[in-house]
Amino acid sequence: MSRKIVVTSALPYANGPIHIGHLVEYIQTDIWVRFQKMCGNQCLYFCADDAHGTPIMISARAEAISPEKLIEQVYKEHKVDFDTFFVEFDNYYSTHSPENKQFSELIFSRLNEAGSIVKRNIEQAYCENCKMSLPDRYIRGTCPRCKAEDQYGDSCEICGATYQSTDLINPYCSTCRGTPTLQRSEHYFFKLADFDKKLKDLIAGGYTQKSVSNKLDEWFKIGLKDWDISRDGPYFGFKIPGEENKFFYVWLDAPIGYMASAKNYCDKNNLDFDKIWNSAEYELYHFIGKDIMYFHALFWPAMLIGAGFKPADKLFVHGFLTVNGEKMSKSRGTFIKASTYRKYLNPEYLRYYYASKLTDGIEDIDLSTDDFINKTNSNLVGKLANLASRSGPMLTKKLNAQLGQLDDKGKELINKLTAAKEQIIRNYENLNYAAVVRIIIALADEANRYVEQNQPWVTVKNDLKKTRTSLTATINAVRILTIYLKPILPKYAEKVEKFLNIDEPSFADIDTVLQNHKINDFERLVERIDKEQVNAMIEESKETKSSEPLTTGPAEPVKPECTIEDFEKIDLRIAKVVKAEPVEGADKLLRLDLDVGGPQKSVLAAVAQAYKPDELTGKTVIYLANLKPRKMRFGLSEGMILAAGTGGKDIFMLSADTGAKPGQRVS
Ligand code: 2FM
Ligand code: ZN
Repeated sequence: MSRKIVVTSALPYANGPIHIGHLVEYIQTDIWVRFQKMCGNQCLYFCADDAHGTPIMISARAEAISPEKLIEQVYKEHKVDFDTFFVEFDNYYSTHSPENKQFSELIFSRLNEAGSIVKRNIEQAYCENCKMSLPDRYIRGTCPRCKAEDQYGDSCEICGATYQSTDLINPYCSTCRGTPTLQRSEHYFFKLADFDKKLKDLIAGGYTQKSVSNKLDEWFKIGLKDWDISRDGPYFGFKIPGEENKFFYVWLDAPIGYMASAKNYCDKNNLDFDKIWNSAEYELYHFIGKDIMYFHALFWPAMLIGAGFKPADKLFVHGFLTVNGEKMSKSRGTFIKASTYRKYLNPEYLRYYYASKLTDGIEDIDLSTDDFINKTNSNLVGKLANLASRSGPMLTKKLNAQLGQLDDKGKELINKLTAAKEQIIRNYENLNYAAVVRIIIALADEANRYVEQNQPWVTVKNDLKKTRTSLTATINAVRILTIYLKPILPKYAEKVEKFLNIDEPSFADIDTVLQNHKINDFERLVERIDKEQVNAMIEESKETKSSEPLTTGPAEPVKPECTIEDFEKIDLRIAKVVKAEPVEGADKLLRLDLDVGGPQKSVLAAVAQAYKPDELTGKTVIYLANLKPRKMRFGLSEGMILAAGTGGKDIFMLSADTGAKPGQRVS
């Protein structure tokens, strides 16, 4: 009996482009949905833009347009990007929609009536200049723990501490650099802890992968806290009923956007929403990244249960994308937008590559550019497409495009290929696409061996019958492999179907054999990747830090003017690094012992990602000698080394290896 399934992917924020990191999830989900459909199951795939919240409001302000205008523009761009990568939603909607407003109010009022919402006064940061309350990410200041400057309001990038923004030393608004004030305000809280037992039961019932439930256990142990679900205006979102200037926090209405998208689809297609969303007849799955587990494994099911809706059957959580082993980076050009990728490369190559790496685990997946080129060229082009290109044209040119019958050897090959069906289905179902691709490639090797043994390019000269027989087997192998691959490569499969002159196949069609059948002219399926294309794509994706926004908002304002007299206070000296060593607990810092001509000085420098300790030992550098020593969590820092850059690996130390003596003044 066929299954009925509803599937969602996380909703992308409506203030930035889709990039290759996002695409891991949309491609993973889309493959699964296409697979389900090919198994004959009814599968509906819903998504939407996540259109509310402070970053969107601030981005709109920075572009001097209304948030409505911004989200409308971004919506169009997102749709184009998804279409380009063949991510086929049954409905792609927006959280800024009447359906979402209605459901948000409904869920809120049901939770309120059930006693799951409380009001409480809190102190919040407020910027008088910007006339808005400031979320943690919009406040910066000195870390209360290690005293590193310019850290975010919720966590320190240097020592990893997490804290309240009110704990920051010298806090400032990251938009205007004004000093925030504290403001008292009444907020609404959702009593998450009341759902502790129900959530534990849900998770014990297999709501998440094992690695995720381990993480959840940690959260349960710490204890579930009330969740602040309101924000004061100005805020781009839905007003809380009965309130003048309070809005639902974006994370309250975002997952409700899944329901809104489903509802909008049902209304457009005359379907029963309650049955599709809230009955046991339909399975429900959410695909998400591991960064938003808390919302989807705790808040969201608790909200649904509390408001009388069923929670999803399962969350499918995946890891992040790294590129060449590192976080995507704008300065390295690996923060690649979907639209930039498209200019240089075929979108299906990325689908194929991601599939070849994806499992049901939550480990990060790495896009190694060399491996990407290699896998595409040797497997997709060299093994799969090549099978079609070495048999199709010969059949159409020399054999009237007419297939014959399979002989015993041909049957043997085809049986091997069809025998893998259950294994492939099982691996698709369990999100082990890497295994699916491995199996398919092993089968393609088998089919290519068959071609080598039969040498149709030789037999075509004197034995057309034999040639037709062997090409019939090859074409049938192409057909089977293409059906297996179709959830991953829908466009490629479409081209093969056209060339084979067959209707859209399902997995149930694997066992039928094409014999005495006429095929169409062969059209090239894929091209090899040239490394230059990848290099050019990376080059175009490179951005200098100065053109990057500070957060997702406007460009970083210039600090208050400093005079030449201020600057002249700086005393720069030559220093020699006597010893350089890592600092435990701070992966960005190195401790440098410096010979400065007098007593040695010790400096903590945030250069650990750019330099190895060995590279620095013995180096002559320039040192800011009269900086007031700063007591940091990791010890006293007596001065500063001159180094600058956009951060991470891109920090460059001024070197003075010219024979100058430690302590010598420089200008
Ligand atoms: O983390 C994000 O990108 C969010 N926009 C995901 C929202 S998913 C769902 F809850 F809406
Ligand atoms: Zn401000």
